Order: sequence, then C-alpha cells, then structure tokens
Amino acid sequence: MNVSEAVASRRSVRAFTDQPVAPELLRDLLSRAARAPSGGNLQPWRIYALAGAPLAELKEAMRLRLRTKPTPPKPEYLVYPPALTEPYRTQRFAVGEAMYALLGIPRENKIGRLQWIQNNFEFFGAPVGLMCYVDRQMGPPQWSDLGMYLQTLMLLLREQGLDSCAQEAWSLYHDTVGAVLAPPAEWTLFCGMSIGYADRSAPLDRLVTERAPLESFATLRGC
Ligand SMILES: Cc1cc2nc3c(=O)[nH]c(=O)nc-3n(C[C@H](O)[C@H](O)[C@H](O)COP(=O)(O)O)c2cc1C
Repeated sequence: MNVSEAVASRRSVRAFTDQPVAPELLRDLLSRAARAPSGGNLQPWRIYALAGAPLAELKEAMRLRLRTKPTPPKPEYLVYPPALTEPYRTQRFAVGEAMYALLGIPRENKIGRLQWIQNNFEFFGAPVGLMCYVDRQMGPPQWSDLGMYLQTLMLLLREQGLDSCAQEAWSLYHDTVGAVLAPPAEWTLFCGMSIGYADRSAPLDRLVTERAPLESFATLRGC
C-alpha cells in the first residue's frame, strides 16, 4: 500500500472484529508514528495503549460511570465551538445523519441515538484502545502536533490492514479515564482511539463521508 492508498482508504471505523492486534505490531506502529513532525521537535504526544485486562478495566469503569453518574464533569476543552457557524454546522449534521441512516435510528428516536453514542465507550468492540494526552502547558501548536502523530499512526495502521476511529467522546469523561489510568496531573486528555480489524459485515462499514471541494477551503494564487 502506498501513501495515497492509505490516505484514501482511511475512514473512521466504528465496528470491529475481535481479532487481536499483535503486541509487537502495535508497538512498532506507535513507535514509527513518532516520525510525525512537531514544532521545535517537542514531540508532545503522550499515549496510553490498552488491550486485554487493562482495556476491560477501563470499559468496565465507564459502564459503571454511565450507569451511576452519566452527567459528565466540566470539560477540559470544548469539543466544538458553542455556536458552530456554517458550513461547519451542516457538515457536522450531515455525518451524523448519514451514520444514523445506516444504523436505522431515526431522529425521533433520541434515546436510541444516545444509546448508540455510548458505543464510543466500548471502543466500538475494538481490541485496542488508545488514550491520547498532551501536557497542559501546551497550546494550539502542540495540540496540532498531537493530531499529526495520530494521523500518521492511522495511515500506518492502514498499511497493516488495520482500522481506527479517533474519539473525542472520551475527553468528556476525563475524570473516569484519569481514575483508571492515573496519568500525571499536568496532562490533559485530548481523545481516545479505537484500533482493530474492521468488521466489513457491519452496516456502518458502508459509511463514506463527504469532503467539501478544494475551492471551498483553499485559495490558490499563482498556482
Ligand atoms: C480528533 C477526532 C475526534 C473524533 N471523535 C469522534 C468520536 O468521539 N466519536 C466518533 O464516532 N467519531 C469521532 N471522530 C471521527 C469523525 O467523525 C470523522 O473523522 C469524520 O466524520 C470524517 O469521517 P472519516 O474519518 O470516516 O473520514 C473523530 C475524529 C477526529 C479527527
């Protein structure tokens, strides 16, 4: 697989088989993704990779949390701006509707949609879950560096026939994740990530999201 194929075939996968990911393969990909660039070479990514019993422990803690105290704590960052303007609002709405259409959960079924969102906290059945942190002293440039690490990893995963889904949803329950993982106090949780082999038989596997045309986001001058 070349880079173009990895880029074209990467999609957020939300249904996985239970086929495990070989630990040495995961270590290798996590390590090589750190070839991603970062301003000043700070390499600000801080990653927990969980599988087996540690993964089960986190999922169990989240199940208990959602059963007993589902209201999330004060967020450490806003996943979206509070009043999203166009065209972002429509784009966000479109991916949600496309997803629920494939799942057969209509808009009126608010409880069904909410319940489905909770699959985030099962890592969509993936055998590996990441928690991606960044030091609190870091600002937007370093958060962007973390994004570059994550995209590099997601492309390397594709090369190995693996799929992924980045998950900001996990940041909402940073307190529960923190209680299980006990990260250094100065770290803040950006997102989780599900990693595994895609379940190609799942209806959601047909989800292909749209992209706005080049002219809508790029201004080309002299080229
Ligand atoms: C940083 C980040 C966080 C995301 N968080 C979630 C999430 O919590 N749950 C989810 O189902 N998808 C999440 N996504 C996936 C996006 O919805 C997805 O990337 C977008 O709709 C484009 O679709 P594609 O990844 O299949 O191309 C996240 C993506 C990124 C990059």
